[in-house]
Formats: sequence, C-alpha cells, structure tokens
Amino acid sequence: MSKPLEGIKIIDFTHVQAGPACTQLLAWFGADVIKVERPGSGDVTRTQLRDIPDADALYFTMLNSNKRSLTLDTKTQEGKEVLEKLVRESDVLVENFAPGALDRMGFTWERLNELNPKLIVASVKGFSDGHHYEDLKVYENVAQCAGGAASTTGFWDGPPTVSAAALGDSNTGMHLAIGILTALIGRGQTGRGQKVAVSMQDSVINLCRVKLRDQQRLDRVGYLEEYPQYPHGEFSDVVPRGGNAGGGGQPGWVLKCKGWENDPNAYIYFTIQGHAWEPICRALGKPEWISDPNYATAQARQPHIFDIFKTIEEWLADKTKYEAVDILRKFDIPCAPVLSMKEIADDPSLRASGTIVEVPHKERGSYLTVGSPIKFSGLKPEITGSPLLGEHTEEILAELGYSKDQIGKLHSAKAI
Ligand code: COA
Repeated sequence: MSKPLEGIKIIDFTHVQAGPACTQLLAWFGADVIKVERPGSGDVTRTQLRDIPDADALYFTMLNSNKRSLTLDTKTQEGKEVLEKLVRESDVLVENFAPGALDRMGFTWERLNELNPKLIVASVKGFSDGHHYEDLKVYENVAQCAGGAASTTGFWDGPPTVSAAALGDSNTGMHLAIGILTALIGRGQTGRGQKVAVSMQDSVINLCRVKLRDQQRLDRVGYLEEYPQYPHGEFSDVVPRGGNAGGGGQPGWVLKCKGWENDPNAYIYFTIQGHAWEPICRALGKPEWISDPNYATAQARQPHIFDIFKTIEEWLADKTKYEAVDILRKFDIPCAPVLSMKEIADDPSLRASGTIVEVPHKERGSYLTVGSPIKFSGLKPEITGSPLLGEHTEEILAELGYSKDQIGKLHSAKAI
C-alpha cells in the first residue's frame, strides 16, 4: 500500500519530545524522516530514564519510530556541508532547539531559504517570536503553567497542578504537524516553502480555550454554574480549579466503585447529560426523581449535585467499574472506567485497533508503543522500531552522493 507522504523528505533536527512527536507522526504516514543527531551522544532521551543498561531508553524509542538516524556534527565545516546538501534535497526541516540555536549554527531562515526556496522550515519554541519570554528554554510543565492549564487543573484547595498528558510537548508537535502539512499544500499552489512556527504556550492555550470562555463568563456574571463552587462556594475574579467537574454543560464527576479502598483506579467517570436524566433515574432505581421538582431540571439539580453523585456512589458500591459501565451503557449514559496504564497496555481492543503496538528493536527486543491515533480507510500505518544512533549514516550519505572515501574523510574529521 503506498503511503500519502511517500516522497517527502524531512530533516528531523528535533530532540526530547515536542519535535520528535511531530516527525514520528509524519514518518508513520510515509515521509522519509532523517533524524540528525550529534555523533557519540545523539538525542538526550536515548539515555534518559533508562530501564535497560546501554540500550536506548523507551523515552527515545517511543518517539522516534519509523525514522532513519544520521549522525552529523553540524558545528564542523564538513558537517555543515553535509547538512547543506541535505537541505537542497529535502522538503521540510523540523527543529526544536533553544531559541537562536539554529541561527548560531549558521542556518538562519534566510540561509535555508536561499539554499532551497521550496524548503519548509518548521520550529517549536517555548514562546512565540516577539513574546516577552521568547528567549526562554521551555519544557513540558513550564508550558502547561504558562498556557493556563496548571491554574485551571486540580482541586480548589490545592496548588496549580500539571496534567500527565503532554499538553506542552506532544500536543505542540501535533500542531506543528498540521502546520507542516498545510505548508506542503501551500507549496503545491505557490511553489515556495515557508517558515512554520508553533509555540508550546500557544498550543496549550489552544487546548484551554474553554477556560478562556469561562473567564469571560465569570467576568460578566460573577459565577460559573457548572463548577463545584456553585452555588455554595465563593468565586474570585479568576477561573477556579474545578476538580473533576465536566468542562462543558454536562455535570460529571469521578465516582467510587467497588474496591476503591484498595485499588486507586476503581472509579468511573459519570456524566449527567441533561436529556438523559430519565434513563439515569431508571438505571439507578430512582424513578421518583424523574418528575420530582427538586431533580427534574438541570437547574434544580445543581444545588445538590454532590448529593446526587453520593447516591450514585451508593449504587456503585457493589459494582466494579467494568460492571457499572456495562449496565450504564445500556441506558446510553456517557461514562467510562478510569483505566490504569497497565489496563491500557493489556487492552485487547487497543491492540486490535493498532493504538497500542508491540514493535521490535535491535537492542531492546520488543517494546510497547502508541501507534497512530488517526485511522484511515486507505492507509494502515505500520509502526517500526526506532533507529540506533547513526544506524543509517552511511546509507544516507551514499544517497547524497558521497563515496566510501569521502565518508571515511568525514569520519576522520569527526563530522559523523
Ligand atoms: N551537531 C552539533 N551541535 C548540535 C547538534 C548537532 N547535530 N544538535 C544540537 N546541537 C547543539 C545546538 O546547536 C546547541 O548549541 P548552542 O547552544 O551552542 O547554540 C546545543 O546543541 C544545545 O541545544 P539546546 O536546544 O539549547 O539544548 P538544551 O538541552 O540546552 O535545551 C530544550 C533543551 C528542550 C530546553 C531547548 O532545546 C528548548 O527550549 N527547545 C525549544 C522548546 C522545546 O521544544 N521544548 C520541549 C522539548 S520536549
């Protein structure tokens, strides 16, 4: 099966998570992604949080599948010449170095554009160009704090809290991938490349837009009726942390199921969808609530929503999270078990859909990784293991026209 991005050559000058997540996605869909890494060390994640001595860490392998690895010291004259050749033959260069690092290496946007006017140059930075923090180096949690996620996550009586989901890293990579694909379509129309820039702060803000919605509602009316603070608590002038409240118009909460005393994940998420009130009452064995004026409307329920959740927990007390969901799904109630990573790793549905895949690796044996969350009718992304450091250096240099002799000279100059 041919893949839509076949023929697109990408210089993957990325490291850690935000950039690699973007280029990995493009590699799954057929692009030839050449990961350029410093000789001897490579991407820092190869050695971070190692679980097997001397083998590439899962941090690296899970973000760099389907790529080729070229070691190149782009600070040497010889290395720069190789990179220039690669730039002339490539469609996209992706990087997420600290602000100014690519310029210091001698590869400004102007220089890259001069070398190859069709090249798309895609960058991740912590903050956007011109922002008063534009010079900052940024990691995941810094972006979550600067993007509004931390101030709105967690419980009202605790500190700002970061999410385990990589809102700053992988999420920014996904935004960048959309930008690159858009620029590729644009190049089809104009024949020219362009600069595509995504900041981690902006990408987090994009996912926090409902909280900006809430800030404006709060400014106007002084309260937010779907938050636990309403109607018994107090609101200040900023969007509060809402614990596990539903972010939209449907109240919801994480509720205890059988076994919660010993299992930290024996919970379900339960949503009270307005028009599903009748089936909820029937499922809970509370048909009298259907017409009770204290319960019949969403507005009437809100002042005692936590009493309602408590009643639901009583109903859940003798049911496992799976049993509960199996009953509730028959009533069309939006809910799900709280799944642990162990349960996700073993889930047969996720294995069957290719969302969780086991891939081979030359040093590690096989490992689990997350496959494409995007499913196509005409493409089944095949996930392959990540490359070893410099595994494809000679192959890529030969494709660029370097002879064995010239490759030997690059070795001697410590450029590869
Ligand atoms: N050959 C020679 N030099 C190389 C090289 C190569 N193949 N690859 C990288 N380098 C150099 C860079 O040019 C840079 O040199 P300089 O500082 O002398 O200009 C140096 O390696 C280090 O790059 P830097 O990006 O500063 O790494 P860092 O480890 O200090 O910082 C981050 C890491 C992630 C904080 C930083 O890269 C960053 O803020 N990136 C943008 C935001 C981002 O993507 N963050 C999320 C990561 S998940």
